[in-house]
Amino acid sequence: MLRSVSICKSFLFSMHVCAKLNLLSKSQESVMKVKIVITGGAGFIGMHLTKRLLKVGHQVSIIDCFHTYYSAHRKKQHVSEIKFPTGDLYEVDLLDRDKTRAIINELKPDAVIHLAALPGVAYSLEEPLKYVDYDIKATINMVEACGEAGVKHFLFASSSSVYGDKPGMPLKEEDADGMTISPYAASKWSAESFCHMYAHMYDMHVNILRFFTVYDPWGRPDMAIPKFISKLLKNESISIFGSDSGRDYTYIDDIIHGIELTLHKGKRGETYNLGSGRVVKMTRLLEILRHHFPEMNVNYDTYRLGDVFSTHSDISKAQSHLGYSPITTIEEGIGNTILWAKQNEKHL
Ligand SMILES: NC(=O)c1ccc[n+]([C@@H]2O[C@H](COP(=O)([O-])OP(=O)(O)OC[C@H]3O[C@@H](n4cnc5c(N)ncnc54)[C@H](O)[C@@H]3O)[C@@H](O)[C@H]2O)c1
Repeated sequence: MLRSVSICKSFLFSMHVCAKLNLLSKSQESVMKVKIVITGGAGFIGMHLTKRLLKVGHQVSIIDCFHTYYSAHRKKQHVSEIKFPTGDLYEVDLLDRDKTRAIINELKPDAVIHLAALPGVAYSLEEPLKYVDYDIKATINMVEACGEAGVKHFLFASSSSVYGDKPGMPLKEEDADGMTISPYAASKWSAESFCHMYAHMYDMHVNILRFFTVYDPWGRPDMAIPKFISKLLKNESISIFGSDSGRDYTYIDDIIHGIELTLHKGKRGETYNLGSGRVVKMTRLLEILRHHFPEMNVNYDTYRLGDVFSTHSDISKAQSHLGYSPITTIEEGIGNTILWAKQNEKHL
């Protein structure tokens, strides 16, 4: 009886949050606000997401520890780009369970978007245990704190890497089976499982979002496209690992739109691929770059352990449940990125 009352209450509350969110999407001038916490909000995706959600009127708080996986100074720069009220920024490491609980209890957000993690496949091969900490344990602390505080909607940033090296393309959500090939991917897969577990335990609406190689502007400096462009602007040669590989490169604006749609329309417990739905071969990426940098010099190297050969998302579920429809072509995205990089060379 108690459980059915709580389910009913939580259903009504979810309807209320959804109604609030839907109202906002219909009329962006609406003053009705939803309280959202973004973990990892000082990172690449986090800064774009925070900017967007503030722009459409939500009340956003950020939790970030300014991890030095890449320059903490760069992350501070992200925060200043957001023009964020400092009171809404919590500089806390989510590995601290008590502080995580205290913040979520104090804020009592309607929704939490959990982006905080150590990203990157290569570093995960060097330091697998750090990924157990930052990608699994920190997620447990966060999702547990959300469950305890009665947060209704929890969105978890997972990755295309959870599919491992599957031959069948494009990849559907149900193709993931835990057969990963890097510690980063194994950690994300494990964290997904913890999210489902806490969703069940606390009757919480959870969505898992699997991002496919997100790029620029302000792209993470360890990723291929920002690294290439930064080197090419300095007339340095670039190194590629496996010339016949392919990636489903997804432009940042399309990813942000997908996250926003999930806030409004994500169906309870569902996992969504957020990709472009197209695969770009390394040879094509090099052609596009050569168009902008005709003198480009390329060193060809062999595959790196842990990297999958190719990724290609099947986005039909996100299309039908959310109305997700990525629009940026790789040619357009690279053009925007080069323009941004030329204007922001000091930040590269
Ligand atoms: N960028 C991509 O192409 C891509 C692809 C797939 C999945 N993802 C996932 O999306 C999320 C965001 O990625 P990104 O590219 O913006 O990475 P990012 O490194 O730029 O951002 C992550 C942020 O999380 C913070 N953080 C890490 N551990 C923390 C902790 N314990 N406590 C508080 N803050 C912490 C970092 O300081 C950083 O600012 C990550 O979960 C990543 O695994 C990204």
